[in-house]
Amino acid sequence: MPTKVFAVANQKGGVGKTTTAVNLAACLAALGRRVLLFDLDPQANATSGLGLEKAEGASAYRVLLGEGTLSEKIKPTAFDRLQVIPSEVDLCGADFELARAEHHLQRVRSALGPIIESTQFDLVLIDCPPSLGVLTLNAFAAAGGVLVPLQCEYYALEGISMLNRVMAQLHDNGVNPALELTGVVMTMYDGRTRLSQQVVSEVREHFGERVFETMIPRSTRLAEAPSFGKPIIHYDKYSAGSAAYELLAQEFLQRIGP
Ligand SMILES: Nc1ncnc2c1ncn2[C@@H]1O[C@H](COP(=O)(O)OP(=O)(O)OP(=O)(O)O)[C@@H](O)[C@H]1O
Ligand SMILES: [Mg+2]
Repeated sequence: MPTKVFAVANQKGGVGKTTTAVNLAACLAALGRRVLLFDLDPQANATSGLGLEKAEGASAYRVLLGEGTLSEKIKPTAFDRLQVIPSEVDLCGADFELARAEHHLQRVRSALGPIIESTQFDLVLIDCPPSLGVLTLNAFAAAGGVLVPLQCEYYALEGISMLNRVMAQLHDNGVNPALELTGVVMTMYDGRTRLSQQVVSEVREHFGERVFETMIPRSTRLAEAPSFGKPIIHYDKYSAGSAAYELLAQEFLQRIGP
């Protein structure tokens, strides 16, 4: 089976990208998939959320500039079948440094090449920073699909047309003609409020079946888990947040096919 690569992206900050990347990755690993979580955000929240210390030189930064290989950067986690390419603050420099480099949008794709060829992973999830800068564009160039978390809040759809346009551009100008919108995940859903319900119906009108049936509830357990360095299924398996990400993982696998 070829390795499939997905970017978890939304240029809006704080919408649940990292929470979704970490928890979906952990649930997919628990379902038996071999998963690589690639932290491409200089904030390194996915790295710490999986219990790894930020370490100097541990990120993909040097590799993206042409030094060494990405395989050397892969670290195990405390969880079976789940490995990670950590991030650290040096990735901040990538936007600036890569913008001047040759083939600057294909750096992540090229670096991931040997890892994909080795078929040591079933799935690679890339946690993107909150921007449509060079790092996110690199993730889009490397991915087969994009997963967009949307927070159940006013202005949830704000900026989505820009994201759509960028994806269409990469499609049309040949950077990644295979790029697809895999799905939209509604996050921080609160069924007791009309607002959440309104936002969901508006988003469903816009994206139709691309919206996952599974919605992620607002849950303090989900917000606490990263401070223990654990995905929710390992922090509080019987919580609503854990159940939601387990369902999302199943729905995700169904959607992407064998
Ligand atoms: N379902 C949820 N319920 C409650 N809190 C949540 C939920 N999802 C995310 N959060 C919290 O909201 C904040 C933002 O989430 P997260 O870091 O996943 O967003 P992000 O899109 O990755 O942010 P950034 O754009 O900064 O990378 C975090 O404090 C996180 O713990
Ligand atoms: Mg994040």
